[in-house]
Amino acid sequence: MKRLDGKTALITGAARGIGLAFAEAYRREGAEVAIADIDINRAKVSASSIGAVPIELDVTKQESIEAGVAETVGKFGHIDILVNNAAIFTAAPIVEIDRRDYDRCFSVNVAGTLFTMQAVARHMIDRGIRGRIINMASQAGRRGEPLVAVYCATKAAVISLTQSAALNLIPHGIRVNAIAPGVVDGEHWDGVDAFFAKYENKAPGQKKKEVGASVPYGRMGVAEDLTGMAVFLASDEAEYIVAQCYNVDGGQWMS
Ligand SMILES: NC(=O)c1ccc[n+]([C@@H]2O[C@H](COP(=O)([O-])OP(=O)(O)OC[C@H]3O[C@@H](n4cnc5c(N)ncnc54)[C@H](O)[C@@H]3O)[C@@H](O)[C@H]2O)c1
Repeated sequence: MKRLDGKTALITGAARGIGLAFAEAYRREGAEVAIADIDINRAKVSASSIGAVPIELDVTKQESIEAGVAETVGKFGHIDILVNNAAIFTAAPIVEIDRRDYDRCFSVNVAGTLFTMQAVARHMIDRGIRGRIINMASQAGRRGEPLVAVYCATKAAVISLTQSAALNLIPHGIRVNAIAPGVVDGEHWDGVDAFFAKYENKAPGQKKKEVGASVPYGRMGVAEDLTGMAVFLASDEAEYIVAQCYNVDGGQWMS
């Protein structure tokens, strides 16, 4: 018996990176998985490599969220697990923050998380499903950073939304929790590195080396470092865990 046998999961932003690692781990544990991403071409390739279903979904558009959730329910019959993983990064000094950039980041990271959670929670409540929702926060949501005000604020908002949604949905048997990764190598961090190269005048790759060396564990994380927590929170073993945000970061943040 696998830990997610008979379960179905919708994971946003799963065409690559951490979301794709979660999709692979959920498949290994017996779940059916929908890889929902704005990048449908990449979602198709990723889904076919692990026996998942690709779904085109832009978390900034209400009609796209509703269509993506309906398509997933049409394919699997129901959704038991939602991972709100889609997010974008941005960085700039306070005096240079661009209003459109701010709006875009909050639209994906905060509104996207809230309204995807809402659409899937409505489905779970309608069907009486004791579902599990996992929101991707970040160590960036635990404290500010001089160049990362907007992204940090979005991830603090994700932690807050997780707490409120968890308290609101637990009477329906729906458990909402969050994971706060530290620094995880991959295409996301290639972009972060490029921002620091620009604003701190560093050579490409230098920021990655510095952050890796500063992690108590001794290196940057990789997506697979997070899959154990993602499976655990989605499984029955986590039945009594509600409204929590778990740091999975090699010792970066203690709370
Ligand atoms: N990588 C890290 O160091 C790190 C650290 C802390 C938290 N996180 C969080 O973990 C999650 C995954 O990070 P990652 O490193 O895999 O990121 P990533 O950039 O590699 O992947 C993000 C995915 O989201 C998709 N996406 C972007 N906008 C979208 C939209 N509007 N609708 C649907 N999909 C959209 C992208 O196409 C991409 O596939 C994110 O929430 C991120 O903030 C990452």
